[in-house]
Amino acid sequence: MFSETIEGTTRIIVPTELTRSMFYNPVMELCRDIDIASIAAFSSSHPTPAQLTYIDALAGTGVRGVRVANEVGLQVSINDRSTPAYELIKRNIALNKIEERATAYNEDANVLLVRTPYDLVDIDPFGSPVPFLDAACKSVKQLLLITATDTAPLCGAHTGGMRTYGARPLNTEYHAEMGTRVLLGAVTRELGRYDKAIQPLLSYASAHFIRLIARVERGARKADESIERLGFIAHCFSCGHRFAFPCADMLDLNVENICTLCGKKMRIAGPLYIHPIKENEFCEQVHEELAKRTLGKKSEALKIVNTGILELDIPFYYEHHALCKALRIPPPSIPSVLDALRSAGFSASRTHFSDTAIKTDARIDELKKIVKMVYVDSLSASFLPCNL
Ligand SMILES: C[S@@+](CC[C@H](N)C(=O)[O-])C[C@H]1O[C@@H](n2cnc3c(N)ncnc32)[C@H](O)[C@@H]1O
Ligand SMILES: [Zn+2]
Repeated sequence: MFSETIEGTTRIIVPTELTRSMFYNPVMELCRDIDIASIAAFSSSHPTPAQLTYIDALAGTGVRGVRVANEVGLQVSINDRSTPAYELIKRNIALNKIEERATAYNEDANVLLVRTPYDLVDIDPFGSPVPFLDAACKSVKQLLLITATDTAPLCGAHTGGMRTYGARPLNTEYHAEMGTRVLLGAVTRELGRYDKAIQPLLSYASAHFIRLIARVERGARKADESIERLGFIAHCFSCGHRFAFPCADMLDLNVENICTLCGKKMRIAGPLYIHPIKENEFCEQVHEELAKRTLGKKSEALKIVNTGILELDIPFYYEHHALCKALRIPPPSIPSVLDALRSAGFSASRTHFSDTAIKTDARIDELKKIVKMVYVDSLSASFLPCNL
């Protein structure tokens, strides 16, 4: 059985029951809304956007590809190896009258990608994108869009990070960011094999998925430069001290793994991407595109992108409540802690990865001192006689 729904300005026929052969997940509308704004922002800087080729390689109903053709106007290929899904994709193309811009395929995604280069390649699988990474990186010319929903191995909550992604994540309080950076690291290495370089434009995690949107450039030198943006994070599970360092330091055994704050042994996560995972100029264009479009998840999308723009480029964050629990104090407000950090000369921001977290270049001992001070100040303020 089928019903019709609308996403953005696109009509979509969807199955009324969730099946793996014709898959439509309404929860991912948020991701698709951000994609539409991102692809519009990316293609607007191109001299002939209507000539850009885009592939939705694992399409399900075809909702992503149909929206890209209908709402952005690119030349799209929409593929699914399931025959019922392929039939549905054709119906959705016809429903939106985009036959001149959209072609349906019923092939194995890897075969199609290895055979054909596309300007924009979108991989939105069940679980891990790893089975499609090699072909996607071979095919892509300009922009790579990748989803992962296997967040447990990526974030270190389950084993499998090393087997699947060639990296060891650690299960820390900043696990969502750890997973995003481990995935970016794996994509960077895969692109490098084809002498291609990655430039992350917008990377985010929401609910149970991670999404990467990254510019791709050709050239061995550029690819080497992006490989140099990989590194490791040392984390002390005893006191919470953490820092990032480049791969070269690890390979030269130039890393002290004894915590300078408490003397315990630090654990090492990685290799992962330790440089900025977004480009603010691009994110601002995405924000503008989101604001002017008809989108079902506009406010959630704007919040993610806006918080991302203001977010510091530091590869981890501190969970405020966990920190206050360790200090045995009730948590003072996050804005008051951010203000105090800035007044003390540190950089500080919130993060889209968690509503209750703080990013700062202060060390954990410095951060704890400031949080305690803010708490004590709030106590003394509440004891002031109210007529003063
Ligand atoms: C998570 S669903 C796609 C959801 C869709 N992108 C969306 O936004 O609604 C993954 C799809 O990949 C398809 N698929 C899995 N393995 C494939 C392969 N090797 N080649 C092509 N399609 C494949 C499945 O049939 C399924 O429809
Ligand atoms: Zn320590």
